[in-house]
Amino acid sequence: MPEPSFHSRIAAIAADVEACLDGFLSPGLLAGEIARPPRLLAAMRHAALEGGKRLRPFLVIEAAALFGMEGEGVLRAACALEMVHCYSLVHDDLPAMDDDDLRRGRPTVHKAFDEATAILAGDALLTYAFDIMGDAPTHADPAIRASLVTGLARAAGPGGMAGGQMLDLAAESSASPLPCAQIETLQAMKTGALIRFGVEAGAMIGGASLEDRRALTAYGRMLGSAFQIADDILDEEGDAALLGKAAAKDAGRNKATMVSALGLERAKALRDECAARACDALNPFGARANILRQAAEFAAARNH
Ligand code: IPE
Ligand code: IPE
Ligand code: MG
Ligand code: MG
Ligand code: MG
Repeated sequence: MPEPSFHSRIAAIAADVEACLDGFLSPGLLAGEIARPPRLLAAMRHAALEGGKRLRPFLVIEAAALFGMEGEGVLRAACALEMVHCYSLVHDDLPAMDDDDLRRGRPTVHKAFDEATAILAGDALLTYAFDIMGDAPTHADPAIRASLVTGLARAAGPGGMAGGQMLDLAAESSASPLPCAQIETLQAMKTGALIRFGVEAGAMIGGASLEDRRALTAYGRMLGSAFQIADDILDEEGDAALLGKAAAKDAGRNKATMVSALGLERAKALRDECAARACDALNPFGARANILRQAAEFAAARNH
C-alpha cells in the first residue's frame, strides 16, 4: 500500500479536529458550569474554528500513532493543544502585542468583537484546554492525564510560550539587536514549546520508552525552530493572501527574527538545516516515521 501523503493526512486530521472543536465549543453545559455567554462562545468559535493548518494536532495524532494509539482520547488531547495555540494567536494579535487585523484570512478576534472579548476568549480557550486534557475520556490512566496537563502547562507557561512572547515583545524595544543564540531561545519558547509538546503528548499517550521519547523531543525541538524561522521568512517574502495574515511587518516593528539577525539567505539555510536535523532525529523509528519527516519538510517549504 502506498504511504499516506502528509497533505492528505493533515487534511483528514483537520476535518476531525474541526468537528471535535465544534462540539466542545457548543452551547451545551458541562457539569458544574452555570452558563456560556453567547458572545464569549462566538468569539471562541471565531478564534478556533475554520482555519489554521492544524499542525500541532497533527503532531499529537501522528506521534501517538507511532505507538499504535488512536481514537477519541488522542483527538481530545490534540484539540486541547490546538485551543492553547488559538488562544496564543488571539492574544498575539491584540493591539498591546503585535496589533494585527487579519488572522487565518479573517478579521482578528478583537476586530470582529472587541478587545475585552478577545482577552476573555483567549482566557477561556486556555482554561478549557486544561479541562479537556484532564478529563477522564482523554486517557484511561489518570497518571498519564496528569502528565499531559503538566506538560501542556510547562509548554504554555512562563518558561514556554508565554515567556517567549515576553522576550519577543521586550526585544522590540531593545537598543541593540539580539544575538542569534537569544533569538533561538525566544523562538524555542514562543513557538517551539507548543510544537515540541505536540509530539511529546503523542509519546505520553502511546506510553513511549524514554529513548523513543527523547528522539521525539529532539525532533519536536528542531521542527519548532524550522517552523518559526519559516514564519520569519514568510513575513519577509510571503504572500499575505496565502498566509491569511499581514506580511512585511516584523522589520518595521523591530522584531528579533532570524531574518533580521542573519539575512534572508542564511535564515533559509538555517531553516533547512533544522528541518534536516528534525528528520535525522527520527532515525530510530525508521520508515514508520515517514509522515513526521514529511511534516518537517512541509514546515520548511511551506508558503502559508
Ligand atoms: C502561527 O502559527 C504562529 C506561529 C507560532 C508562527 P501557525 O502558522 O501554525 O498558524 P495556523 O494555526 O496555521 O493559523
Ligand atoms: C507568534 O509569533 C507566536 C505565538 C503566537 C505564540 P508571531 O507573532 O511571529 O506569529 P504571527 O506571524 O503573528 O502568526
Ligand atoms: Mg508575535
Ligand atoms: Mg504576531
Ligand atoms: Mg510571524
